[in-house]
Amino acid sequence: MALLELTDITKTFGAGDQRVEALRGVSMAVEAGEMVALVGPSGSGKSTLLAIIGALLTPTAGSMLIGGRDVATFDAGARTRYRRDQVGFVFQASNLVPFLTARENLLLVGEFGGADKGALRRRADELLKELGLTEAAGQAANRLSGGQRQRVAIARALMRDPLLILVDEPTASLDTTRGAQVVEALREEIHGRHKACVMVTHDLEMAARADRVLEIRDGLLRAHGAPVV
Ligand SMILES: Nc1ncnc2c1ncn2[C@@H]1O[C@H](COP(=O)(O)OP(=O)(O)O)[C@@H](O)[C@H]1O
Ligand SMILES: [Mg+2]
Repeated sequence: MALLELTDITKTFGAGDQRVEALRGVSMAVEAGEMVALVGPSGSGKSTLLAIIGALLTPTAGSMLIGGRDVATFDAGARTRYRRDQVGFVFQASNLVPFLTARENLLLVGEFGGADKGALRRRADELLKELGLTEAAGQAANRLSGGQRQRVAIARALMRDPLLILVDEPTASLDTTRGAQVVEALREEIHGRHKACVMVTHDLEMAARADRVLEIRDGLLRAHGAPVV
């Protein structure tokens, strides 16, 4: 069974003259351990699709199954738990607390989970290391470079050990080398821990590092290339 399965998802915004069909029948499945890149021109529906997968938006029609469970049947509490415990979001505007260090930004997320403090610190340090942030760990977030901040945002999204990681243009402010490192670190996490990831990117080089690349145009999905791995 796929971890995530979307069938004929549509999303319409507005009405009358203002009506926009952002998604026009999207079907896709993502397996555990799989990293899928989503590419497409601006306005094609990429962010809308991610928001639906993360249960931040409700589709106009269609179905979405998470681990075989239909998200449409979730009550408000179950939706919140799904967003909070199962999904790690990394959005373009993922803001860190500027006056806390990189490490403290990670620990802050853990604090709300009620987990053991020692375990949280070990998890934070492990993620900081995986993402090449060991030296930046003690620096205030507002002193970090754009690329470092981006990686802290990814590490933060991974703190709760989510099943599904949703990233929207994670590497927008990174050069290709840095961007490639970020994607590699994500890949290791996803393959090694059997998570799944949908990553929106405009960078085809980074997309090529995913297991599969999907392309969206005018709200319709199509395969961009054969599986890479
Ligand atoms: N909240 C909204 N209200 C109205 N239209 C929206 C809203 N969000 C997105 N759209 C429209 O839906 C289409 C897809 O947007 P989006 O998913 O943000 O595209 P992308 O992320 O690929 O650039 C665009 O035409 C956009 O203007
Ligand atoms: Mg977008």
